Amino acid sequence: MSAPDLYPASDAFRQNARVGSREAYDEMYRRSVEDNEGFWAEQADRLDWIEPFDTVKDVSFDADDLHIRWYVGGKLNACYNALDRHVEEGRGDRVAFYFEPDDPKKEERRQITYAEALAETQRMASVLKDLGVQKGDRVTIYMPMIPEAVYAMQACARIGAIFSVIFGGFSPEAIAGRIRDAASDFVITADQGRRGGKTIALKANVDAALKRLGEDSEVRHVLVVRNTGGNVTWDDRDVWYHEATRSASGACPCEPMDAEDPLFILYTSGSTGTPKGVVHTTAGYCVYTSLTHEITFDWREDDVFWCSADVGWITGHSYIAFGPMINGATQVLFEGVPTFPDAGRVWDVVEQYGVTLFYTAPTLIRALMAQGDDFVTRHDRSSLRVLGTVGEPINPEAWRWYHEVVGEGRCPIVDTWWQTETGGHMLTPLPGAIDQKPGAATVPFFGIQPQVLDAEGKVLEGEAEGLLVIADSWPGQARTVYENHERFKNTYFTAYPGTYFTGDGCRRDADGYYWITGRVDDVINVSGHRMGTAEVESALVLHDAVAEAAVVGVPHPIKGQTIYAYVTLAADATPNEDLRAELRQHVRKVIGPIATPEFLQFAIAGLPKTRSGKIMRRILRKVATGEHDSIGDTSTLADPEVVDKLITGRR
Ligand code: PRX
Repeated sequence: MSAPDLYPASDAFRQNARVGSREAYDEMYRRSVEDNEGFWAEQADRLDWIEPFDTVKDVSFDADDLHIRWYVGGKLNACYNALDRHVEEGRGDRVAFYFEPDDPKKEERRQITYAEALAETQRMASVLKDLGVQKGDRVTIYMPMIPEAVYAMQACARIGAIFSVIFGGFSPEAIAGRIRDAASDFVITADQGRRGGKTIALKANVDAALKRLGEDSEVRHVLVVRNTGGNVTWDDRDVWYHEATRSASGACPCEPMDAEDPLFILYTSGSTGTPKGVVHTTAGYCVYTSLTHEITFDWREDDVFWCSADVGWITGHSYIAFGPMINGATQVLFEGVPTFPDAGRVWDVVEQYGVTLFYTAPTLIRALMAQGDDFVTRHDRSSLRVLGTVGEPINPEAWRWYHEVVGEGRCPIVDTWWQTETGGHMLTPLPGAIDQKPGAATVPFFGIQPQVLDAEGKVLEGEAEGLLVIADSWPGQARTVYENHERFKNTYFTAYPGTYFTGDGCRRDADGYYWITGRVDDVINVSGHRMGTAEVESALVLHDAVAEAAVVGVPHPIKGQTIYAYVTLAADATPNEDLRAELRQHVRKVIGPIATPEFLQFAIAGLPKTRSGKIMRRILRKVATGEHDSIGDTSTLADPEVVDKLITGRR
């Protein structure tokens, strides 16, 4: 019997769900679009405001007058909404975090209540203030997955500093670029992080980044949390957090912030240039992440929510540090890796804390699936209610394994499509209302108006395949690129006027379900992480042996996509295995391990270029994937013969 294509939630689930039927979804969706401002005005009641807003929405997607403002005139504080109000309203004893360390044999498990998280956040905020951090200053956070990472983000929000979190896997070079771009005044880091029994030299990486920046650095202090106790080198600007807390006040008031004051900057890769510092602001982001967290996961107060993402990515911002905390959720915070000490770790954690809502990436599902079912089934997963995925398209086989083996056929799966720029979920099944199809992100969230366009920008109706754009704004949308509104405009609002261009392709089926087909630009998605081809290429050409480089993504069974690099060498360089290894290592060093090209081919005869000098990536992709029969027309190439030579040299 073949597997079914449609998976409805069980009647039992529907009966108790927040949105319990397709009709209920349709009705709420219709209202959210027809009375968009009314809908979002009501949702603003989720937050506590210092001063009410006077205008719900002030938006123009018109490139000449591009502006996106929500809840204009309102004043509030994000940290107050995530922490103080829970304590003030008598929820201080509720567990905010079950902290699961990398290796529980060596480190302590911690259970942190909302009252404790608030006290710790205030302490951190006081220390930042004592160091001179002021409203509007940029604070770079480069931390392991420990509670202090969340306190750091909340502490910045509390005092109105704009935080910029950098994923702990990024290299000193990458950190330096982001510190420079944000003109950061302060850095918060830890001595070291732990992952899978290994230590990560976080402080040393910050030192190297600041050394690289030299005179360019505006960083006044580096605040260092003692985590492993490992050795670090010290400089005048460095401050130990545990020492600074001795003289710091235990109380620190919340700064009243304008609805549109920036909350954070988060760097993400695009098809060209250096990573963009996407800016999210205060009120709209808080409303949107809190609502999506509640509705998409059918969240209840007694749920134990576990989002396995790192706080260095948008998923960790929206669905660890903000949405769930604003809702007062109990969460698991996991420092380690899913395969340490063995491939059963994730399900061990689920069993231990009685996780009810689990949110992860397809790459992790595929990696664990490859290890066999025993690692899963030996743990009790009866607490699970809803399973979520994010970051890349999920292949139906992995979807079914997640559904049948992990969720015992009982848990709806929410395949959430969204982006760093969207702040929160955009397309997703609602677990009690939308019958799921494996691999489909299904239908738009409330207030979201997707459209499918053809290459000329014509709106396609009904069943269609093309480019995915969003026709109107929503509160969680990014407002700009830090200090570069022009780039924001050109990237998202110029090619298809009047809409937000997502950079993704999609298909809409006969039932109106959306299926994301992947990026249509030169962005590679490796294990759910965005990598710009241009970034990897620039890293490669920094090496003396490299004359030119071109990078493409190729399918990978676990990672979704992996990086395939073509390199032409400088005249005096010799193409051999040592150099190949050195170049791969070089990219790893320049950007970080996630950018390491899995394949690196020396393009001895050169790259396929048009007569005007444009590299034809289409051809490079076909060669890399071995689709030599469908390379297509090569007559526009300056030298069509390079193609055969590339095929011969394929890795
Ligand atoms: O291509 C889409 C893919 O990830 C991109 C966004 O990456 P990033 O900004 O790093 O955010 C990842 C976490 C929100 C999108 O343009 N993507 C994300 N979720 C899905 C997805 N592709 C298919 N299905 C998804 N559920």
